[in-house]
Amino acid sequence: MRDKIVNYIRAGYPGIYIVSHEEQRVEAEIKSVADALEYRLFAWSTTAGLVDTADGQARQANDPLDAIEAVEELPENSLVLLRDFHAFLEDGNPVLVRALKDSLARCKTLGKCLIILGCRQVLPAELERELCVIHFTLPDKPQLGVVLDGICQSAGLPIAAGDDRDRILDAATGLTSAEAENAYALAVIECRNVDPAVVAREKALTVKKKGLLEIVEVQETLDDIGGLDLLKNWLVQRREAFGERAREYRLPSPKGVLLLGVPGTGKSLCAKASASVLQRPLIKLDMGALMGSLVGESEANLRAAIHVAEAIAPCIVWIDELDKGLAGSKSSGASDGGTSARVFGSLISWMQERTAPVFIIATANDVTQLPPELLRKGRWDEIFWTDLPNLVERQAIWEIKVAQCGRDPKQYDLADLASVSDGYTGAEIEGVVADSLYRAFADNREPTTEDMQQSLRDTVPLSKLSDQVDALRKWSRGRARPATSPEPESKHRRIAA
Ligand SMILES: Nc1ncnc2c1ncn2[C@@H]1O[C@H](COP(=O)(O)OP(=O)(O)OP(=O)(O)O)[C@@H](O)[C@H]1O
Ligand SMILES: [Mg+2]
Repeated sequence: MRDKIVNYIRAGYPGIYIVSHEEQRVEAEIKSVADALEYRLFAWSTTAGLVDTADGQARQANDPLDAIEAVEELPENSLVLLRDFHAFLEDGNPVLVRALKDSLARCKTLGKCLIILGCRQVLPAELERELCVIHFTLPDKPQLGVVLDGICQSAGLPIAAGDDRDRILDAATGLTSAEAENAYALAVIECRNVDPAVVAREKALTVKKKGLLEIVEVQETLDDIGGLDLLKNWLVQRREAFGERAREYRLPSPKGVLLLGVPGTGKSLCAKASASVLQRPLIKLDMGALMGSLVGESEANLRAAIHVAEAIAPCIVWIDELDKGLAGSKSSGASDGGTSARVFGSLISWMQERTAPVFIIATANDVTQLPPELLRKGRWDEIFWTDLPNLVERQAIWEIKVAQCGRDPKQYDLADLASVSDGYTGAEIEGVVADSLYRAFADNREPTTEDMQQSLRDTVPLSKLSDQVDALRKWSRGRARPATSPEPESKHRRIAA
C-alpha cells in the first residue's frame, strides 16, 4: 500500500482519497510515505486544526475552508492528511467543493498532496476526476501478527508460534488491527491465552455487526445430502482446490457455482456442505439487506463486504436466494433510481475480475428474476439444476431424515416410502418425518412406517399444487447441468419394466 501511495504522489497526483476505518494504521502508513519521499507531513482535524507532525505546532484552522486556505501557506513538498474532511463533503457544499478544486490545481504545481481519509467514500461528482480513490486493504497476516505479538508481550505470554500462530491469524483475518487487538485481548481474559476459537467467534460477531455478511458455522457435510450425485462429485473434485498442492500444480482457483432449482431440493444445504468439503470459512452475503440499504450506501456496503471477504480468503461467499435480492435490478431505475442495477453491476464486475481466492456459491429458484448476464457461460464454473428427487434419491433422503431424528432407518420400509413420495422434495419429506414424530409422540409411542405414509397422504406437495415446477424444469433444459445423473432412475425403470 505504501508503495502505491508513493507512486501516486511521485506521479504528481495532487489529491488522494483513502477509504478506511483504520485511522491509526493509515496515519502510520502516510507517515512512512512522507519519510520515503522526504516530504513534510501535516495533519488536519476539525478539533486540532492543521498540525505540523514534526513539531506538533498547530495552525488555528478548524473550519474546512480555513484548512484549505492554510494549505496555501505550507512549503513545497508537503503532504496534508485531512481527517474529518469527508463529513463536510457530504452535503456537497459548493463553496467548499470549489475551494478544494482550486487548491488541488495549485498543489499540483507545488508538489503538495492532499490526502482525505474517511471511513466511507463521499465524493461529489465535481471532484471525481480530481482525486484518486484508494480502498485501504485490511491488515494482512504479518500485520495481524505484529498486533498479536504486542498482546502476547503485554500479557506476559510466550509469543505464539507454529500452527497455533497460523490458527490465530487465520481466525483474525478480515478484522481491522483495532478489532483484532480487542479479540486477542478478550481471548486472553477469557482463557488466559489467545484461543483461536474466541478470536473466530469475535470475528463472526464483528462481521455480522457490519450488516451484510455473516460467518456461518457449518455442521452439514455431504453425508447429509440425499442424491444430487453429480453436484456432490463436482464439489469433491474441488476438495483441495485451495491447498498448497493445488497452487503448486497451478490449478486455477475455482470461481463459483450457481445452484438453480425447485424450492426445497437442497440448494442451501449444498451451499453449507460445500464449506465442509472445501474446508474453508463460509460467509453468507445478505442480498436482501444489500439491496435494501439506502441509495448510495448499497455500493459502499458491497465494497466493504468484498473487502472483508477478500481479507478472509480463501473462503466461500454464499449468496442465498440471489433471485430475491436481484428482483429490482432488471427494472433498472424504474423503482429505485437504478441502485439495484448499479449494485448488481458492481457485483458482476467483482465476480469477473476478482483475483483473491473467493469461491462464490449462489442459489436461486425463480430464474425469471435473474438478469441474463448472470447466466452467461464463463461467469460461473458451472450452473447446476436441482430437480425433484428421483426414486433412489428419495430413499436416501428418507434414510437421512429418519436417522437425523435418532431412529434406526432399518426399522422402516424406506423403499415403499420412497416410492409413494414421488413428487415430494427433500424439504417436504423432512416435514413428513417431523409430522409423524408429532403423531406418535401424542400417542406416547414410536413413529412407524404407517405414520409416515399417513403424513404423506396428508401433505400435498408443491409440485402437484402448481405448474411452477414444470415451468422451471423446462427453462433449465440446456441452460444448466443436472445435479443428478439420470442413471439411477432409468435403471430402476428398466428393472420395474
Ligand atoms: N437432497 C436432500 N437431502 C437431504 N435433505 C434435503 C434435501 N433436499 C432438501 N433437504 C432438506 O430440506 C430442507 C430445505 O432444503 P434447502 O433449504 O436446502 O432447500 P432449497 O433448495 O435451498 O430451497 P429454497 O429454494 O426454498 O431456498 C433442509 O432442511 C434440508 O435438510
Ligand atoms: Mg434455499
